[in-house]
Amino acid sequence: MVSFVLTLSSTFSRLNLLPKPSLVHTVRALRTLQQRKPTWSLYNSSFKSISAQISTSNLNSPKPHTENVGIGDDLVVLGIETSCDDTAASVVRSNGEILSQVVSSQADLLAQYGGVAPKMAEEAHLRVIDQVVQEALDKANLTEKDLSAVAVTIGPGLSLCLRVGVRKARKIAGSFNLPIIGVHHMEAHALVARLIERELQFPFMALLISGGHNLLILASDLGQYIQLGTTIDDAIGEAYDKTAKWLGLDMRRSGGPAVEELAREGDAESVKFSIPMKQYKDCNFSYAGLKTQVRLAIESRNINAGIPISSASCQDRSSRADIAASFQRVAVLHLEERCERAIEWALKLEPSIKYLVVSGGVASNQYVRARLDQVVQKNNLQLVCPPPSLCTDNGVMVAWTGIEHFRMGRFDPPPSASEPEDSLYDLRPRWPLGEEYAEGRSEARSLRRARIHPSLTSLIQASLQQQA
Ligand code: KG4
Ligand code: ZN
Repeated sequence: MVSFVLTLSSTFSRLNLLPKPSLVHTVRALRTLQQRKPTWSLYNSSFKSISAQISTSNLNSPKPHTENVGIGDDLVVLGIETSCDDTAASVVRSNGEILSQVVSSQADLLAQYGGVAPKMAEEAHLRVIDQVVQEALDKANLTEKDLSAVAVTIGPGLSLCLRVGVRKARKIAGSFNLPIIGVHHMEAHALVARLIERELQFPFMALLISGGHNLLILASDLGQYIQLGTTIDDAIGEAYDKTAKWLGLDMRRSGGPAVEELAREGDAESVKFSIPMKQYKDCNFSYAGLKTQVRLAIESRNINAGIPISSASCQDRSSRADIAASFQRVAVLHLEERCERAIEWALKLEPSIKYLVVSGGVASNQYVRARLDQVVQKNNLQLVCPPPSLCTDNGVMVAWTGIEHFRMGRFDPPPSASEPEDSLYDLRPRWPLGEEYAEGRSEARSLRRARIHPSLTSLIQASLQQQA
């Protein structure tokens, strides 16, 4: 029989539907939380009291550092990530200590299909998920019994893939009576910067650049995000991946690193690609047109992707390198231009902003970092870029985001230990992070809006209003 199961983030939208947590399953969570919030009790409408604390705080002013990393609490959270093509798990302590980090990538599949095929990706996740999680626990020298909670990505991403991680997380949480925290993948990319940079307090800006998303956000507080810009079609990572594929590069580490490497050999001014969306004075992105420009340039130079770059003649290689370098220059100019404007907008909304976080897979690119650092410095801000292993998909960012929300009381009680394997979970494949900045709406927008879930921020705000 198929049953419908709510995962954590349903907490934000359907608090009143949550069953009252049982005494046994919340003991460990309570123990850790009570150390910090002695007056709080899960047994008398816990979320209400937590929410009241949140709503009385000023969402727009910097938080005292005590709200940040590891003061007086001692949580150990397992984070599981399977939203796309990496199976990742990590154990992180609330003081910011990374106890383990394990990633199993599907690079071979990517190389074979030139992109992520959902069914194949699901099967690949299924093959390794148990091993990846076990390794994360082993490397941390812990067992499930030592955990305070389990955090897992519930969206956005590929449903088939998300499901593998969620099922594993719920199985562990159910068997060991652990609270569970559903995590927004893009929020996790942003918040992992707070683990790296202890001074990073709200409000801050973030540019999140990955294979599926391009987001510019103003982070006012935990869970409170204003979306200044998004992509109207493809994300920059997708453009890197296709460029790599069409140039016949080795995709086994994904396309981005291969293009970055080849671009170092090329002349970035040699191919005249035009910068996307110059005429639109907003902060949205578009990479579909640039992809087409790259494809046409490759075709006009008779480059044969069937011949791997390793077998290309000297002249052919240099021609490919020129395209890689020219593509990268323009792709990043588009980021720079949008960031300049976003900084202007964000400082009007929040003059106290000091940091721009750049995260997501593409943020591991050294050229991207260097160029954005210049933009940030020109505007008297500081750039925070997590190390490359925390920019690409990983379990640390999920565990850390889980810790941040857990400390605010945002989690679900443990699932039943006998939850059926074929349960239908509340997955959110298309889940916006923040509320759109009205003045930032692009005339060029052609976003497909069908079956979009309400944003994380709107769910949190609704729950706060409900409790006020
Ligand atoms: O965040 P991520 O690991 O997964 C998604 O959430 O999509 O980002 C993956 C994307 C891929 O498109 C990959 O090609 C790109 O990040 N990427 C890079 C680099 N490393 C990874 N792009 C450019 N330069 C890199 N060094
Ligand atoms: Zn990602």
